[in-house]
Amino acid sequence: MLTDVKNVRVLVVGGAGYIGSHVQKQLLEEGFQVVVFDNLSTGDKINLLKGAAFIEGNILDKQALNDAMSQNIDAVVHLAAKKAVGESMEHPEIYAENNITGALNILNAMVANGVKHIVFSSSAAVYGMPEYIPLNEKHQIKPINYYGYTKICIEQNMDWYAKLGKLNYAALRYFNAVGYAADKSITGRERNPQNLLPIIMEVATGKREKLSIFGNDYDTPDGTCVRDYIHVSDLATAHTLALRYLMTDHQSFAVNLGTGNGTSVKEMVDATEKVIGKKLNYDYAPRRAGDPAELTADASLAREILGWKPRYTDVEEIIRTVWNLEI
Ligand code: UFG
Repeated sequence: MLTDVKNVRVLVVGGAGYIGSHVQKQLLEEGFQVVVFDNLSTGDKINLLKGAAFIEGNILDKQALNDAMSQNIDAVVHLAAKKAVGESMEHPEIYAENNITGALNILNAMVANGVKHIVFSSSAAVYGMPEYIPLNEKHQIKPINYYGYTKICIEQNMDWYAKLGKLNYAALRYFNAVGYAADKSITGRERNPQNLLPIIMEVATGKREKLSIFGNDYDTPDGTCVRDYIHVSDLATAHTLALRYLMTDHQSFAVNLGTGNGTSVKEMVDATEKVIGKKLNYDYAPRRAGDPAELTADASLAREILGWKPRYTDVEEIIRTVWNLEI
């Protein structure tokens, strides 16, 4: 594994966003040079950390990408993508443009400037409906939403570029990213959150009247859906490990990132009530289309290749890292 990183300059595309800001923090703490490229559409300037350079730019702007890549960049972490599954089914054209065209622009700007390494934010959504759990990387790839398709489409393009000797890549297939840096250094919250824990937090802080739990008749112990919640700081660590690996070993790879532990929606609600010390207002609503009953990761390949092991395995501890920002 690469150890001396002080001369390694990393372009973090989408570095002002929720996961991107945590990746930025991890890179800086390990001594990498960091340049954030972000159009601030969902990211926030408040998430730009001391020590990181910033370029305001859009991944649809080839010239801006080219200019950024030509600044002695050694590697790219690409996290700038749209990620609302429901919206991707209503407006595939928006996802095609941002997640596919935008990512291809990045790959091409890398090739044009001789940038050889990319760590890519992929998703468990590439697998589609699980045929078995926990899911490993050998599970069939059959996305059931357009968002998941955009992720596998870029993985396949990176695979071709790698085969053709243009670059090497790490595709990190996140399960459910949650939490905030425990030291409270990242404070930007997502606007109009669509995911469970941010919505729960809006109910907890009175920004939202209630949580609707989508379905309580699933074939799970309490009838609500089970997911694998992985702390964002653990995700961030996987990015720097992946980068060090790529820059040493040159082998491209795709791995799952999750804890392997399943937590139901109701368990998330109960755990939050415990952490915040009060009851949450919620009700049960019909199932949401496209939700598998249970989704957990077999992340043993990430452990094997990268030596990655999540530090956060307790959901209450994870929830506390979010609640601490509110109090
Ligand atoms: N849920 C509710 N009520 C809400 C919001 C969510 O009950 O208001 C439930 C969902 O039905 C699901 C669970 O909470 O059972 C988690 O839902 P999220 O929307 O937070 O996350 P998903 O598991 O649907 O999707 C997440 C990411 C996707 C990624 C996917 C991969 O948001 O980008 O994990 O597993 F593709």
